[in-house]
Amino acid sequence: MKRQREIRGSTIVGTGMYVPERVLTNLDFEKMVDTSDEWILERTGIRERRIAAPHQASSDLALHASERALAMAGITADDVDQIVIATTTPDRFLPSCACTLQQKLGASRAAAYDVFAACTGFVYGLGIARGVIGARIADTVLVVGVETLSRIVDYTDRNTCVLFGDGAGAAVVRPCDPDVGVLSVSMHSDGALGEVLVIPAGGSARPASVETVQAREHAIQMQGKKLFPFAVRSMEDSLRESLAEAGLGASDLDLVVPHQANLRIIDAVRERLDLPQEKMLINIERYGNTSSASIPILLDEAVNAGRLKLGDIVGLSAFGGGATWGSCVMRWTMARKGAPASTASVSGAAAAVPQS
Ligand code: UT7
Repeated sequence: MKRQREIRGSTIVGTGMYVPERVLTNLDFEKMVDTSDEWILERTGIRERRIAAPHQASSDLALHASERALAMAGITADDVDQIVIATTTPDRFLPSCACTLQQKLGASRAAAYDVFAACTGFVYGLGIARGVIGARIADTVLVVGVETLSRIVDYTDRNTCVLFGDGAGAAVVRPCDPDVGVLSVSMHSDGALGEVLVIPAGGSARPASVETVQAREHAIQMQGKKLFPFAVRSMEDSLRESLAEAGLGASDLDLVVPHQANLRIIDAVRERLDLPQEKMLINIERYGNTSSASIPILLDEAVNAGRLKLGDIVGLSAFGGGATWGSCVMRWTMARKGAPASTASVSGAAAAVPQS
């Protein structure tokens, strides 16, 4: 009888991030729209955000983050089987941002495609990576969250322009023992909430025209007040769902890496989960809301700061346009900053051991 192949898990073995050099502060916005440093800081927690240089497209930001993630994982571009890019701001609609990154990275063997799930995109990407690795379709998946939101923000609309920033984060995902690494992923959508966060023109429903450009319909329009309670509820619910699927509860969490949309949203989620402040990672004051890039940027900063220990229970949680939301729970497998997970072991289980 043919031997049943064991189930295999997946885990992050390298992370990387990149943000552009140019900084736009709250004081800069005071000169652009009717706002104040005080309002922005108090209502959002943001002090400054990064803005891509004119020559930089999303794939350029993604390239830097990806190279760093591959280096940390101790692999080359040639080892990558799949590239999944989560973005709402691809370089162009065709080819995909992932195909452009593939070419720039020299990952010639990889299948490359974009995922369009707004701020939840990186969590979706991890879910996809877990699926293709578990099904043995791929061994090495590069998951990237990248945005150049400055290209789709209306800098005359104070309701949105102060919120968003540019950046990229990446993670290399590899097979591992099923008891460690990514333990669970929840992915949800509700198209009925689509109009709350929208770019009205530029797609097949309303192609670009002189009128759409003049009416600023290629920029983000958001009903922030409606999104706020949904954000808090969906992040809490999906994280609890992922924890339950992993047989865990909120008190088991060592660290949460939440999407950085608003400090008040993050605080409300933390309070509902009854977590101490130090377990909730925050960097919104420096980068603003970088949508799909916010979680992998924060994760890479945590790895490099030595915040994640072998065996830690880590929760990721996001919500965004679509509406989309989702969470991921991991048992961390990287022994120390920069160490490939293949050298690590958690609770006696070999972590990230290729099982092809
Ligand atoms: O990543 C996913 C997408 N984004 C989000 O999830 C965002 C979720 N929502 C939020 O973070 C918050 O709702 C915002 C930060 C967008 C807004 O905060 P808020 O406390 O909900 O403010 P508000 O929309 O209720 O507006 C309060 C007032 C309004 O003035 P009036 O009508 O009371 O006179 C706004 O016009 O604040 C005004 N306002 C501003 N004032 C100064 C809105 N934006 C600004 C601004 N500067 N930049």
